[in-house]
Amino acid sequence: MKPLEIKPNIFWVGAIDWNIRDFHGYSTYKGTTYNAFLIVDEKITLVDTVKAPFFSDLIHRIRQIVEPEKIDYLVINHVEMDHSGSFLDVVKAINPEKIFCSEMGKKALIQHYHREDLPYVVVKTGDFVNTGKRNLHFIETRMLHWPDSMFTYIPSDKLLISSDAFGQHWATSGRFDDEVDGAELMYHAAKYYANILLLYSPLVQKLLEKVKELNLEIDMIAPDHGLIWRRDPQRIIEAYDRWSKQITRRKAIVVYDTMWHSTEKMAKAIVDGLIDESIETKLLSLKANHRSDVVTEMLDAKAIIVGSPTINNGLFPTVADVLTYMKGLKPSGRIGASFGSYGWSGEATEVISKYFEEMKIEQVHEPIKVQYVPDHESLKKCVELGRMVGRRVKELVS
Ligand code: FEO
Repeated sequence: MKPLEIKPNIFWVGAIDWNIRDFHGYSTYKGTTYNAFLIVDEKITLVDTVKAPFFSDLIHRIRQIVEPEKIDYLVINHVEMDHSGSFLDVVKAINPEKIFCSEMGKKALIQHYHREDLPYVVVKTGDFVNTGKRNLHFIETRMLHWPDSMFTYIPSDKLLISSDAFGQHWATSGRFDDEVDGAELMYHAAKYYANILLLYSPLVQKLLEKVKELNLEIDMIAPDHGLIWRRDPQRIIEAYDRWSKQITRRKAIVVYDTMWHSTEKMAKAIVDGLIDESIETKLLSLKANHRSDVVTEMLDAKAIIVGSPTINNGLFPTVADVLTYMKGLKPSGRIGASFGSYGWSGEATEVISKYFEEMKIEQVHEPIKVQYVPDHESLKKCVELGRMVGRRVKELVS
């Protein structure tokens, strides 16, 4: 593949990882990309590197534009190893005059790669470096996704290189948003937000305010993963505004696992009740849905209903897994209810309730517990739970 010029003399020189299927616990069924950008100016600058096994892809692409040793500056927007894994190989290949990074970035680079002797230049929001025809401005974006994260903004090109923010894990042959299916693109962007950034939503809100305050002119957003937004960058900014405000819809998710199909029968009856109230509903068996897909569906759902059989006096392991993951992402403003079958002790629903309390999820119905196998009457109660949650969703979401 030839290097791709995304703006005059600014090239995408990243790598496509078609085969990755797990990204620290996030299912990446369609792979990802590690985007890096080469700015050819009087001072030639490489912004970001790639994951270690993709170093040769990066160098191969750079070589089609300039010899790597001609590169003057290296910008490290983020130290997580999907972007900095080839840092030492890149430093060796280009011998940069300067390496720009945030203060936390320098610290993290040294803690990862144990080289204090490199020509780091620590930058903060408001700092910029001139490369000849351009200024590269730096904007710190702490915790989006790590303490070291920052953006590089190039006003003359109206280009925001946004590191993890606005990214998607999706390996494609096209590099731009207008070269792929728009609905699928937004799905991957939502999944990325739900799994990587939801926890930091208050900081995303602050960042969006900061971007507004700085009055940045942006006609292209180039994240470090997935597609580059050039058709309508405002679309993803507006989506981030919505997601970080945790705005939900008239939607419910019913998440469960089952041993002998009793909890499953209850889940289906609850779904029937929600459908009776015209609530968009997703039934998510944990035998068929990965935790990262569950939280993606949760992103715009007002109601979270969770069911588990009791096993060994507690939760079914997959339910414990998804609740632990969900709690870490700090969803807010949701309502919930729990249900489950049991043989003799029946603790699962109480454990789910505790998770809900910790997540400040308002429980709008008493937990429903059924011993062994639900009968017609028990299933009617489950339908009623679904209807009641549905009515509450409609009261809360206009
Ligand atoms: Fe794509 Fe936080 O790394």
